Amino acid sequence: MIIANWKMNTTRSEAIALAQDVRSISCRPSTKIGICPPAIWIDAVSNVLKGSSVLLGMQNCIGDPFGAQTGCINAEMAKGAGCQLVILGHSERRARFSETTEMLVPAVASVLETGNIPVFCIGETLAERDSGRAIEAVVGQLKPLLNAGLDLDGLIIAYEPVWAIGAGHSATVGDIGIMHRTIRAILDRPDALVLYGGSVSPESAGTVFSSAEVSGALVGGASLNAEKFAAIVAAWEQN
Ligand code: PGA
Repeated sequence: MIIANWKMNTTRSEAIALAQDVRSISCRPSTKIGICPPAIWIDAVSNVLKGSSVLLGMQNCIGDPFGAQTGCINAEMAKGAGCQLVILGHSERRARFSETTEMLVPAVASVLETGNIPVFCIGETLAERDSGRAIEAVVGQLKPLLNAGLDLDGLIIAYEPVWAIGAGHSATVGDIGIMHRTIRAILDRPDALVLYGGSVSPESAGTVFSSAEVSGALVGGASLNAEKFAAIVAAWEQN
């Protein structure tokens, strides 16, 4: 599964044009492509994707039911807008809005309840890696989900080392492998889908995907260019 996270990029017309280009990427039925545009363009992009196999996703939601929550969007709204995926716990939201896994448990539960797929992001900071606490940090971000007693069968994890996001250099295949194995062991799900994210590009994709532990990618910057995104999808299919 290769998921595009457009973050806070694209005008309405750029979003439509990019979605049209992504829609025309040819790939095997077993390769799932998803795009997560800014929430405000979901409807426009959903129209472009009608009848295609490209999955649509939100970049965030909250776990509350309908009610007085100014500026928020819940999981049911995401479902109603035609989404199949919801990214949760991205490091940019953890850093800027102080989101923690504890706070995100209701959001994960509500996305699962709608039958959609939470793409739950975890990853260590550079300070945590440099001090030898990378695994501890990532396990710490997972544990509250496990402790919540949710049935996590429908959950996808995106391992995204914070220091690799937008940095131009990805984690090494060895480090990715160790982390993905650890995540599956903690989840107690050998078959769990664990994506890698952090500077996946046409240049790095072949190396990242050479790891048997990698189930796909969450792609930021390179997903804003349809040719680069298509090259990443092609690299996935070559592995
Ligand atoms: P990047 O972002 O590909 O630009 O590093 C990945 C992400 O933040 O999901």
